[in-house]
Amino acid sequence: MKAEDVKVFGVVGAGQMGHGIAQVAAMSGLKVILNDIKMELAQRGYDNIAKILSRNVDKGKMTVEEKEAVLSKIELSSDLKDMASADYVVEAATENEQIKFQIFRDLDEICPEHTILATNTSSIPIGRIAAQTKRPDRVIGMHFMNPVPVMKLVEVIRALTTSDETFQVTWDLALKFGKTPAEASDYPGFIANRILMPMINEAIYCLYEGVGTREAIDTVMKLGMNHPMGPLALADLIGLDTCLAIMETLYEGFKDPKYRPCPLLRRYVEAGWLGRKTGKGFYEYE
Ligand code: CAA
Repeated sequence: MKAEDVKVFGVVGAGQMGHGIAQVAAMSGLKVILNDIKMELAQRGYDNIAKILSRNVDKGKMTVEEKEAVLSKIELSSDLKDMASADYVVEAATENEQIKFQIFRDLDEICPEHTILATNTSSIPIGRIAAQTKRPDRVIGMHFMNPVPVMKLVEVIRALTTSDETFQVTWDLALKFGKTPAEASDYPGFIANRILMPMINEAIYCLYEGVGTREAIDTVMKLGMNHPMGPLALADLIGLDTCLAIMETLYEGFKDPKYRPCPLLRRYVEAGWLGRKTGKGFYEYE
């Protein structure tokens, strides 16, 4: 199979990553099936895409007709069986190993033999996910960054079992979506989160130990290192539950204390302060 043979693109999970992926796939001209466990969740993802595209229309970046054309390519689904018509599926469900394993076992049953099953996991080993299926050669990591429509990178992660063909199709799809792919091996956190997350965790330690206020920590990294946003604001954008899950994966995977999650991060997650999506993380949101 080649990237040109992918006509129907499935996205499992319509949350902040899933709907962003659906948007870039639809904008590249593919027919998209956007699935979530409930129709209202799929609909919410669709509404978010419509909102972002409307903003692009207001800015004069696209016409109303172009916006409608993109939206018309997206079909909503609350039944995983709808993926039976997909040539390529990206799973962007919650960052929980058991949930992802089940989705991959189900997709393996539902999808035609040629279908490639990718995961947008930020840290779960691709090989472990591939092993849930009878097509480990057609399982790969396709890791988008948040916010998906803006960020240029797609980290492409091949498991030991991933075939060259699967890798090439994924690489070429990332290019088709207007992204720049970079290859990483299947080790905990891959490249992006192996480097990013310890920095965020260390920023949380600085807050925990009183080295600086949230504003001071973020200002130092924004203005001192030219980062577009400070690490605490970025943690809120990513989701503190996701940050904790990634730190746990690094800690588990390497058994190295340098990856221990900061207790303050854990306390926030236990309190349900997950960042922007819950209106409160290190900062408050409306
Ligand atoms: N969806 C779509 N578009 C968005 C958006 C979103 N959620 N948020 C911002 N944008 C668009 C804006 O509409 C704006 O577009 P125009 O240029 O067309 O006007 C553009 O992005 C810039 O936005 P703003 O002017 O509002 O704000 P900004 O200049 O501060 O940029 C930002 C916002 C793009 C989020 C920027 O702060 C940034 O790049 N931050 C760092 C993001 C980052 O590091 N992401 C990676 C996280 S790690 C990850 O995702 C992987 C993982 O596994 C955890």
